[in-house]
Amino acid sequence: MRAVTWQGRRKVSVDNVPDPTIKESNDAIIRVTSTNICGSDLHLYEVLGAFMNPGDILGHEAMGVVEEVGRDIDNLNVGDRVVIPFNISCGQCFMCDHGLQSQCETTQNRDQGTGAALFGYSTLYGEVAGGQAEYLRVPQAQYTHIKVPDDAPDERYVYLSDVLPTAWQAVEYADVPDGGTIAVVGLGPIGSMACRIAAHRKRARVIGVDLVDERLDRARPYCAEVVDLRRDDAEEVVQSYTEGRGADAVIDAVGMEAHGSPVAEAAQTASGFLPSPVGRAVMKHAGVDRLAAFNSAIAMVRRGGTISLSGVYGGAASPVNLMTLFDKQIQLRMGQANVKKWIPDILPLLTDEDPLGVEQFATHRLPLSAAPDAYETFQKKEDGMVKVVLRP
Ligand SMILES: NC(=O)c1ccc[n+]([C@@H]2O[C@H](COP(=O)([O-])OP(=O)(O)OC[C@H]3O[C@@H](n4cnc5c(N)ncnc54)[C@H](O)[C@@H]3O)[C@@H](O)[C@H]2O)c1
Ligand SMILES: [Zn+2]
Ligand SMILES: [Zn+2]
Repeated sequence: MRAVTWQGRRKVSVDNVPDPTIKESNDAIIRVTSTNICGSDLHLYEVLGAFMNPGDILGHEAMGVVEEVGRDIDNLNVGDRVVIPFNISCGQCFMCDHGLQSQCETTQNRDQGTGAALFGYSTLYGEVAGGQAEYLRVPQAQYTHIKVPDDAPDERYVYLSDVLPTAWQAVEYADVPDGGTIAVVGLGPIGSMACRIAAHRKRARVIGVDLVDERLDRARPYCAEVVDLRRDDAEEVVQSYTEGRGADAVIDAVGMEAHGSPVAEAAQTASGFLPSPVGRAVMKHAGVDRLAAFNSAIAMVRRGGTISLSGVYGGAASPVNLMTLFDKQIQLRMGQANVKKWIPDILPLLTDEDPLGVEQFATHRLPLSAAPDAYETFQKKEDGMVKVVLRP
């Protein structure tokens, strides 16, 4: 089959690789019909490169049709249309029972000290082959699937794999009161979907923050105000909406590749060029995070408010301003999305009325063969690219 593979820092290619086969009795194989590129893939493209091996198949936002099931799978049939959650979870352990599917104890990577295995996401998360390919092997398939109806195009459902549950969890964790004020830092797919969900569900006053024109434009219809960081001071804008108090909640939907931390940026880039073992140590221990977005969240949130982190951070020694967090009495919630937990809440919104605008969400629809260029364009934020759906 054809698959998008990681080949080195800032280098992906489309290769012929062996078709996946059933390895465990609870596996399934799906034929992929749509598969997205995610901001998280950009971490692998660059700063988490030390945890990748050449030839690893990328991708964790796939949907398609069931081709084959292992002998222990009795709730999926060949031909079923399914979206595959980005985290691989069993549905039966303590964590899954508690709605913490991204911490599944059956698929946790204990040797790495990390949570549930993820598709296409490096040796840190199980080095499971990803979904930017013609076919995907789905472990724990009895639970790691979302059945969807045949009545609508893929793009109505494909974001159930990641964007929708991640943005939903970000809003839930932010715990903004109905009609309250929420700032969303970073208006990529996750941030812009979080704006839509916060406006729709909580009737919140949303203040979106970014520094790329088309990303600001996309969020504008769902926001009370968008702040262009190149021109305006986000903290001041938030204060002007809140009698100087700060936002009830702030979502950080940027993560470790934030613009605005030049020193860390240089160190991170260097870590990507180091030989893998050294680069890994630098990323895990030296703390080369770029905390610009998180620091702005701390500044924008009101005393007693909540910061909800959905941006991914790495590194153990980042200088977090604990004094201000403590002094302002901030709640901090974060983590990979527990995809399956939120699906029953989200599905009723995926209707012909399309209140979240999912069917117009993609900016680019491309064949799998275009992936190498698409990664580059997406990373450079060129050509108005915000969300890419690949069609194998
Ligand atoms: N928690 C989860 O389960 C989960 C799931 C998916 C993605 N993520 C993470 O969420 C983050 C966003 O994902 P995405 O797909 O939207 O990525 P993205 O890279 O497209 O979006 C990031 C946005 O942040 C903006 N930005 C950069 N620096 C900024 C700053 N200092 N202030 C304000 N905005 C800034 C960029 O212009 C961009 O629009 C990534 O870190 C990704 O890894 C987490
Ligand atoms: Zn993703
Ligand atoms: Zn589990």
